Amino acid sequence: MHSSCSLPVLLPLLLLLLVATTGPARALKEDEKLAMVELHNLYRSQVSPPASNMLRMRWDEELAAFAKAYAQKCVWGHNKERGRRGENLFAITDEGMDVPLAMQEWYHEHQHYNLSAATCDPGQMCGHYTQVVWSKTERIGCGSHFCEKLQGVEETNIQLLVCNYEPPGNVKRQRPYQEGPPCSQCPDGYHCENALCDADGPERPGGEVRLNSGHSWGPLPGLLLLPPLVMAGIF
Ligand SMILES: *[C@@H]1O[C@H](CO)[C@@H](O)[C@H](O)[C@H]1NC(C)=O
Repeated sequence: MHSSCSLPVLLPLLLLLLVATTGPARALKEDEKLAMVELHNLYRSQVSPPASNMLRMRWDEELAAFAKAYAQKCVWGHNKERGRRGENLFAITDEGMDVPLAMQEWYHEHQHYNLSAATCDPGQMCGHYTQVVWSKTERIGCGSHFCEKLQGVEETNIQLLVCNYEPPGNVKRQRPYQEGPPCSQCPDGYHCENALCDADGPERPGGEVRLNSGHSWGPLPGLLLLPPLVMAGIF
């Protein structure tokens, strides 16, 4: 069994929050939503080279409902009706959804991406990574669904995860973020917090749950090798 032990060494809180997954047909739990948004923010705060204008992401229930509705269609391919939304997909067999693993799988593509040239190595995928670290993307919502049959995939009994993003990343001829000292180019109305630009003012309605342990995160650990039945794709 693959384990999520490498990330949670750095994420004791998230580890505590992530409850083992059980049974099919399960929606994302509150703690998994929290882990998803906080892991995005953790990765975003630690990009290399550093980002001068990386915004903090917040969970968005409307995006989550949109993602969930598409996950329920059980299609291994992007939602053609996603409009002006970014989208990352992840699928895993047997063992149930694993939010840190999905995040690692997406972030893992960073090794193929050259920020200064804005290029991805030939034959590799970088689009999940560039969406995760797209500096201007501020809202995320994800949904998962258990698919006995996932259209476009031969394996059966798959947990599909769909995340949608606003504003969308992966805009042609743009870099995911501006390199520079963290927070040195936050937009007006934002302040710096944990190397991310966070919107000033009161919490937005329906807004975030914040993990704030005062813990300072170390560098990211080596990425885990994935079992063959884990798939992440962009098409
Ligand atoms: C990234 O691309 C730039 C410009 O083409 C090149 O000079 C640099 O060597 C590349 N970096 C890596 C790590 O390949």
